[in-house]
Amino acid sequence: MGSVITGTGIGLPPHVVTNEALSRLMDTSDEWIRVRSGIEERRYADPGQGSTDLGVLAASQALADAGLRPEDIDAVIFATMTPDYLLPGNGPLLQAALGLPNIPTFDLRQQCSGFLYGLELADVLLQSGRYRRILLVGAEVHSPFMPWHLGWDTLIGRSPREITDAERAENTLSRDRTVLFGDGAGAVVIETREEGTGLLKTRLFTDGTGAGVLTMTGASFKRRPFVTPEQIAAGETLPFMAGKDVFKSAVTLMPQAVRAVCAEAGVAVEELDLVLVHQANLRIIEGVQKALGLPPEKVPHNIERYGNTTAATLPILFHECREEGKIRPGMLVAFTALGSGLHWGAALYRA
Ligand code: UT7
Repeated sequence: MGSVITGTGIGLPPHVVTNEALSRLMDTSDEWIRVRSGIEERRYADPGQGSTDLGVLAASQALADAGLRPEDIDAVIFATMTPDYLLPGNGPLLQAALGLPNIPTFDLRQQCSGFLYGLELADVLLQSGRYRRILLVGAEVHSPFMPWHLGWDTLIGRSPREITDAERAENTLSRDRTVLFGDGAGAVVIETREEGTGLLKTRLFTDGTGAGVLTMTGASFKRRPFVTPEQIAAGETLPFMAGKDVFKSAVTLMPQAVRAVCAEAGVAVEELDLVLVHQANLRIIEGVQKALGLPPEKVPHNIERYGNTTAATLPILFHECREEGKIRPGMLVAFTALGSGLHWGAALYRA
């Protein structure tokens, strides 16, 4: 039996924020952000709206799309690096909000590779025969990382106040990361169906020696207390990223992983109809496309509109490609991602 995606949905927050709007808060420009990352705008959640809320929107849509009721689901996998709380995870919060039965929920924290790891876990659970229908959600609300505590009302159009020079200087310190991230959610329902369709192969990798290139040390249970005002002031509650190192790993390891799953499945890379790459930077996506020797139309992207939504990029992209008719029955689709951990990998899927 194959593990087949039978429903998809997305949950997008209300505030659309352009590069131009961000340049009111810090020293940046539409040109810099577009040229370096391909991003034109991103969405931000309303204050008080969490990744569970966005996940619930996406999951409700995915359930309806699959023609299922909440009681049909056997397990939930929720991937996020921005949970509502440290404990419990988002899984039980989503289970309660959707009125799902008392089924098990698994919380994953593989960051940008969270959805990919979720696909692997869902496949293994389904193939064990102990579960028949799994809801897999990737959702993030990154906006609380953003340091412009006094700038939110200006940014989302609730106040005409121009921010002060001191606030601008403060916001500029983290511009290399803040402009890249957005909020959003995607969800899929995965069910067992006839052999030959669905997930064909997955290959996952971890290299913990690279943990330091993309990390957030500001809230740490190695410290007492685990977070202090000094750490917040020092910007340690924002992810640190050695951008160039992550970039190089991404354009090398994602194509390798795609080649590995193709080789294991006995298909040529040229036979792929689509490759869905984690949406972190348009230059990375294009790098992966060129390394695989595929034409640009086989490697779609939506980073222009959402920025990097970490665990949500792949399910949002898959949903949009399906809606736009780019994914049709019988097509061969590869997923690939790389992020903090380092975790990376690829999955091969027959629609
Ligand atoms: O999803 C998780 C995985 N993450 C990724 O895959 C991200 C991988 N890395 C990247 O995407 C890129 O490395 C970045 C987009 C983060 C940065 O691009 P870059 O071409 O490596 O730029 P850079 O960091 O070398 O910065 C170039 C210049 C610097 O100025 P100087 O030192 O040359 O004067 C930065 O200070 O650009 C400056 N800069 C900015 N200028 C305007 C950095 N951020 C900004 C900004 N606006 N937002």
